[in-house]
Amino acid sequence: MLTRSVLVLASVLSSAWGELTFPPGFRWGAATAAYQVEGAWNQSDKSPSVWDHFIHSTPDLVADRSTGDVAADSYHLWRRDMEMLEELGLQFYRFSISWTRLVPNGFANVISEDGRRYYDDLINGLLESGIEPIPTIYHWDIPQRLQDLGGWTNPLVSDWFAEYARVVFSLYANRVKYWVTINEPSVFCEFGYGAGMIAPGIKDQDIGKYMCVKNVLMAHGKAYRVYEREFKGKYSGKLSMANHFMWYEAETEKDLEVAELIRQFQYGLYCHAIYSQEGGWPVAVEQQIADNSYREGYSFSRLPEFTQEEKDLVRGTFDYMAVNHYSSRTVRQQSSAEHIPASNQFTANAEFNATYEGKEDWPKGNSFWFLFYLLPHHQINPAGLRDLLVWLKTEYGDLEYLITENGYSDVTSKINDDDRVDYHREYLKQVLLAIKQDGVNVTGYTAWSLMDDFEWVEGYTLGFGLYHVDFSQAERPRTPRKSARYYASVARANSLDVPEPQDVML
Ligand code: GAL
Repeated sequence: MLTRSVLVLASVLSSAWGELTFPPGFRWGAATAAYQVEGAWNQSDKSPSVWDHFIHSTPDLVADRSTGDVAADSYHLWRRDMEMLEELGLQFYRFSISWTRLVPNGFANVISEDGRRYYDDLINGLLESGIEPIPTIYHWDIPQRLQDLGGWTNPLVSDWFAEYARVVFSLYANRVKYWVTINEPSVFCEFGYGAGMIAPGIKDQDIGKYMCVKNVLMAHGKAYRVYEREFKGKYSGKLSMANHFMWYEAETEKDLEVAELIRQFQYGLYCHAIYSQEGGWPVAVEQQIADNSYREGYSFSRLPEFTQEEKDLVRGTFDYMAVNHYSSRTVRQQSSAEHIPASNQFTANAEFNATYEGKEDWPKGNSFWFLFYLLPHHQINPAGLRDLLVWLKTEYGDLEYLITENGYSDVTSKINDDDRVDYHREYLKQVLLAIKQDGVNVTGYTAWSLMDDFEWVEGYTLGFGLYHVDFSQAERPRTPRKSARYYASVARANSLDVPEPQDVML
C-alpha cells in the first residue's frame, strides 16, 4: 500500500520546484479493447473470435467463469463512453477494432455493414467531440476461423492480417492520424501460444510462441507497408505496434549482464526487427536460442530465422513507439544447479537461466493480478517507467514515444480509489523526469482503462477503470471514480500541480 502522507508531502515539495507541468501539446487519453468492452459477441453477422471460442469452450480458465458476451456493452453504449471521455477532457481515445465484427469471414472479401457502421459512428462521434480516435487494429481477437487454420503460427496469417488492415485503412484512414497495428505480442504469443493460459490456450513454450512472434512481426511489417504504399501520401498517419514493457532491473551487480540479456529477450524480440538499423532478431538472443536448440537435439533453431528480404520488409516500419507499461521485476542469474521451471517467461526464463522477482521495498497493489504477475501482487515501481524510457531511447533512438497503456487494478467495488490516484500520479512524475531530465520525447499518456472491463482470465474480479461499471445491471451504469476526477484535473491543467481530488459521495 502506498503511504499517502509521504506521497502528498513529496507532491507538495516537487510542486514547489515547479517541475510538475507537462510540455505544451502533451496529450492525454484513455484506452479500452473490443473484446473487453463491446459485448454484442454474436450481434448481426459478427463471427466468433478466438476469445469467444476460448471462453465458451473452457469457462473454468476464467476466475469468475464470466465471459465477454456482454462486457460493458459498449457496442450499444458507446455514446455514454463518449460522454465519459468528454467529462474527462481527454484529447484521444484508444480503442480496438474487432476483426470478426468488421470482416466476419476472417478474410477481406466480405465487409460487415453493421461492423463498418459501428466504427464509423464511433470515430465520427469522437471527432465531433474533439477527441482524436487512436484505433488498435488487433487487440488479441483473431477470428476463430483463422485460429482453426493455425492462427498466429501459420505464416500466411501475416497476409491475412495485412488484408484486414487494408480494409480498416480504406474505411477509416481519412479520419485517423495515429494507429496501433497490433497490441502486445509478448503477451498473446507467450501466454496464448506458450504458457497456454489465454486464448487460444496452446502450451508450446519451445516452438509455438516463437512462431507466433515471427509471424506477428511479419504481419505488422506487411500492414505497415500497405499503409505506406496506399494511404500515407494522402493522410500522413503514424503507425506503431504496441509492446508490453515490464521494466527489468538487475538484482545485484552480478546480474547486470543477464538483466541486459533479458531486456533484449523481452523487448528486443519484439522491437529489434522494427527499430534497429540492421533488423532481425537481437544477436545475443538469436545466438542463445540457437545454441539451446542444438544442445536439445534440434537440427534448427527454435526461433525461426528471418531471410534478408523479410528483415528489409519489417525494418523501419514505425512512425513512433507505442509503450504499454505497468510494473517492474528484478532479474537474477540462477546457478546451473538450480532448477528453472520452463513454465512461464514472466517468472523465469529457461533460455537464459534467470529468475524474475519483485523487491521488498516496492509497494504492492491490492489485486492478485494473475495474467502478468504470477507474483501475488502488482509490483509498483514508478521509477521503472523512467528507467524503461531511458533504456528505449538509448537503444532505439530519439523517437516519439507514446505511452499507450498504464494503470492499476483493484477490487471493482471501490469508488474512492486513492491507490489508483497515487499510482497514476507517481508514474506520471517519472514520465515528467524522463521528459525534462533525460530528454525522452514522450508525447502522451494513456490510462488503462477508461472503464472497468472484462479483464481476460480475471474476468470481472478486478477493475482498472477510471469509471466503475456495474456488471450486475443490464444497463451497465458507469460511475466516475475518484481517479476519474483526478485524471480529468491533471489532463485539463496539463500538470500534476492540481488539488487533491475530493471523495466521491454516492
Ligand atoms: C494489457 C492489455 C490490456 C489489459 C491490461 C490490464 O497488457 O493490453 O488488454 O488487459 O493489460 O490487464
